Amino acid sequence: MSRSLIDILDFSVQEIDELINMALDIVKSPEKYSEKCHGKKLATLFFEPSTRTRLSFEAAMYELGGNVIGFSEAQSSSAAKGESVADTAKTVSCYADIIAMRHPKEGAAYVVAKNASVPVINAGDGGHLHPTQTLADLLTIYREKGSLSGFTIGFCGDLKFGRTVHSLIAALSRYSGINVVLISPEELKLPSYIKKDILKEKNIPFAQTTDLEEAMPALDILYMTRVQRERFFNEEDYLRLKDSYILTPEKLMNAKSNLCIMHPLPRVNEISVAIDSDPRACYFKQVLNGKYIRMALILKLLEEAEKDEY
Ligand code: CP
Repeated sequence: MSRSLIDILDFSVQEIDELINMALDIVKSPEKYSEKCHGKKLATLFFEPSTRTRLSFEAAMYELGGNVIGFSEAQSSSAAKGESVADTAKTVSCYADIIAMRHPKEGAAYVVAKNASVPVINAGDGGHLHPTQTLADLLTIYREKGSLSGFTIGFCGDLKFGRTVHSLIAALSRYSGINVVLISPEELKLPSYIKKDILKEKNIPFAQTTDLEEAMPALDILYMTRVQRERFFNEEDYLRLKDSYILTPEKLMNAKSNLCIMHPLPRVNEISVAIDSDPRACYFKQVLNGKYIRMALILKLLEEAEKDEY
């Protein structure tokens, strides 16, 4: 089995530091990397909708001089005829050197990694994990704050189904001086297992509130999230909760002047477009950082796969 990235904790802190440094070098000298993946193919297997993750993986591979194959919806693959993800993994391993996969079922990326003979990258599995968004988030925090330690971060919105929140909390739990504020409606609180297994286990100070404005003054980073309509069991609950938090310029009155406002996107209604021109808005920087860090990730996993062949 090749080295894959299914959970952000599959990589050590040192490996994440190396990826961030490589991404920073790519930003500085992209020409050095423009032929690194010549002759290599990335397969993007997207069983769920995506704009950023799929297109940033594809842009990343093209900017490394490689090629891309794949599909962007389950209906255009043989999954529509009942093929298992395990068989899909074995099949695509015959055509591609590396796979990036998004799937609505929690754990699907793990099953694919077990059955593929090439590296597999989890591009989001249901409401579970989204490790490459976390890498983009970490690169953004590093570029904005100069460090991955010593700050207070507020997570706001759908903390129950928001897989980007789950992965980022796991990643940050390995750095020092992190304070967490969890801001959500009662029904969308962070799952207990994450509080128990990560925040309490690692002695990370955390507070829970429903009040964004009350939490605002203490925050160095505000991580807004969309209410995940596709994970709800009934539309009524979604409609009741979808506009729980809408960040407007007025709500930033008591925010720090160097607050970093993040959002994995897509945004529905959680951040007013009036905030886009605020210098504290970092969410489109996250989008761009996502391409650079995915370039670094593809290079790392292909390099390790090549070493395994010897
Ligand atoms: N952040 C993110 O995963 O966006 P997409 O759903 O557009 O890929």
